[in-house]
Formats: sequence, C-alpha cells, structure tokens
Amino acid sequence: MNIQVIPSANVCRKSDVKGKVVVVIDVLRATTVVTLALQNGARSVIPMQTPEEVMERRSQMNSSSVLTGGERNAVKIEGFDLGNSPEEYTPSVVNGKDILFTTSNGTAALLATEGAQDVMLGCFLNVSSLVEKVLNANTDVAIICAGTNSDFSLDDGICAGMLIYQISRRVPVDTNDLGALLSKYYENGSTGILSKIVECNHVKTLFALGYYNDVMYCLRTDRSQIVPHYRNGAITVK
Ligand code: MLT
Repeated sequence: MNIQVIPSANVCRKSDVKGKVVVVIDVLRATTVVTLALQNGARSVIPMQTPEEVMERRSQMNSSSVLTGGERNAVKIEGFDLGNSPEEYTPSVVNGKDILFTTSNGTAALLATEGAQDVMLGCFLNVSSLVEKVLNANTDVAIICAGTNSDFSLDDGICAGMLIYQISRRVPVDTNDLGALLSKYYENGSTGILSKIVECNHVKTLFALGYYNDVMYCLRTDRSQIVPHYRNGAITVK
C-alpha cells in the first residue's frame, strides 16, 4: 500500500489527493471534535472556510436543527453556538443537529480534498477503526496532517505515524520520507509517545488558554469506532 503524508493543509496539491483515499488528521482539535459530535448523535458536520460563510448558510437553514461551531485563534467565534472543545459536543447538545463548522486548519484540510475517491477523518479516538477502514479500502492513500498556522504540527504527525506503523504491521507499505520518519518516530517511542505531544507548540497555546481538559481528551486512544466520512459537502458516518 502506498501512503503519502502531506505536512499541512496549505501545501496540499490537487495531485496529492486525486483518486486516492484521503485521511485528514487534526488531533487538536477539529477531527477529534467531529468524531465525537457524530458519536454523540449529530446528523452531520458541514465544514466551511470562513465564519462569514457559516453565518450566511445558517440564515438559509431551519435554525432549530442547526448549530454553529468552531474557532479562530483557538477560541470560540463571536456569535457561534459552540467553540472547538470536545466537552461542548455532548449528546444533549448535538443529537439530531447539523453543525456548520469552521476551524483554522482542520476544515481547510477537508476542503483541500476535492477529487479524492473517499475522505475519512482520523484522530487518536478512532485510530484502530481507521486502520481497518484503510486496509479494507486497499488503495493508494494520502494523509493530510492539518497543521497549525499553515505549519506542520507534531500532534497530527504522531497520529499519522501511529496509523502508518499499525498498517505496516499488516501489509507492506511504501511511504514518502515524512511518512517513514513519522512511522519510525512512533515505533521508537510508542510506549511514551503521547507524552511527547505536550512539547507541541499548539499544545502550549491551548494550555495557555486554559484548554488543558481538551488536550487530555484529544489524546485518548481508541475510544470510538466511528470513522467519519466527508462526501458531497457534509461529514457523516457512512
Ligand atoms: C484547527 O483547525 O487548526 C484546530 O482545530 C485549532 C484548534 O484546536 O483550536
């Protein structure tokens, strides 16, 4: 299986994803939040580029079944219902809702997947289920690490490394240099790997803003069997 890793959303080219199965990873926090929202009964999550687009779309929809969610500079956007903290997306809040969602890098990565054969969302919460889905797809794969501020983010990279390492134990894998590096990094530190995430810049930002619980939540591994798919403008559970 060929697996190419793309270091951040802003450097993803059309040719990187065309015809492939694409996995978008934004561990802190977008893909974790979306996985949790769907697990807790949200009908769909609709990724959008800007807060203005979200507000425009909301004005066109039946407001009783719609929520707005996301962040800019890691904090909740003014006028939105929800921010980007997992603990906000509880069953009583999201069940049966369509969530219009925009984040700094995660939704940009999703919107960069045009032309892909299939798009899945990954995070530590669903990593083992994701391994099975990718193995079943049995085709060329691109992993987009969403990144932070248009730059590579180690939290996404460690999750990508874990995914590649686990797949490579089941089938032969060809990967690019970044994929090889991340898989080795994960393999070498696997027992204490999650503790390395506290060294990431984005973690420092989230801690400084008081989002300690969010980071701890996002580092939980294999708590969900849900693998969200992005198709025709909406993320749902297939
Ligand atoms: C992103 O899309 O970059 C993240 O969700 C940012 C964040 O965690 O606040």
